Amino acid sequence: MLLIDGKAISEQIKSELKIKVETYKQRTGKVAGLSVIIVGENPASQVYVRNKAKSCVEIGMRSEVIELPATISQADLLKRIDELNHNPDVHGILVQQPLPKHIDDFAITLAIQPEKDVDGFHPENVGKLCIGRLDECFISCTPFGVIELFKRYQIQTEGKHCVIVGRSNIVGKPMAMLMMQKLKQMNATVTVCHSATPNISDFTRQADILIAAIGKANFITAEMVKSGAVVIDVGINQIDDATKKSGKRLVGDVDFDGVSKLASAITPVPGGVGPMTIAMLLSNTLTSFERHYHLS
Ligand code: GUN
Repeated sequence: MLLIDGKAISEQIKSELKIKVETYKQRTGKVAGLSVIIVGENPASQVYVRNKAKSCVEIGMRSEVIELPATISQADLLKRIDELNHNPDVHGILVQQPLPKHIDDFAITLAIQPEKDVDGFHPENVGKLCIGRLDECFISCTPFGVIELFKRYQIQTEGKHCVIVGRSNIVGKPMAMLMMQKLKQMNATVTVCHSATPNISDFTRQADILIAAIGKANFITAEMVKSGAVVIDVGINQIDDATKKSGKRLVGDVDFDGVSKLASAITPVPGGVGPMTIAMLLSNTLTSFERHYHLS
């Protein structure tokens, strides 16, 4: 069984990006920059945003975190986004979700200039992904990270049956779009299951590649997996664990202990897909910079 080490691959990607950031700095006198907006004080979001900023600095990119109060009006938030759209030193803009209820997520997504939308959430980027214009869009970081793991571990996906459990706009849908692309590293037959799929194991048991992105702790058990399948766990769920000092522990959507006994390859949680998301965010930011300055 191959343990897919997303932490190690993400470190490798970051060191490659760091070299590029420096090279471009020498050539242009400019440094790629990512601006992250966080609204309110959601503790999980604060951790994510801190990690994103830390990783930016690690590879020599400019990082800016804009902390705004939960009471900010939608109009004021849109104004802040517009300033970033017009700032030539900002190459990537990310508005951390979830947002307070009085703010319309979609209005915010639409306000970010597609050329700086390093999350890949703007419909222009989503549309380009759907029609296969991958070199002209940004791809949502988590599914992009999964593809990168397949590439770097030389996991064959062509002609395979990929079953995705979860249909979110951030992971499930873009993951399905990517896996069905007519490209050597993808080119899979794709099935998407979700919370309303009856007898879900009838589908998951057919998977050569099983991607779990449903946000339910240990949802995928050994009985649901074909022997020899490649299993990708996108879930990050906090569960109670009295043996831990914090009283809590992170687990994925896959019952790792059971499933790892029959999978041919599997991603752990933590240390699998999670670190790849940040690496691909940095990669998207550098891509934005390269497109802006006609580099690479
Ligand atoms: N909240 C959780 N994951 C993400 C993400 O990938 N992007 C943004 N903007 N917010 C998130």
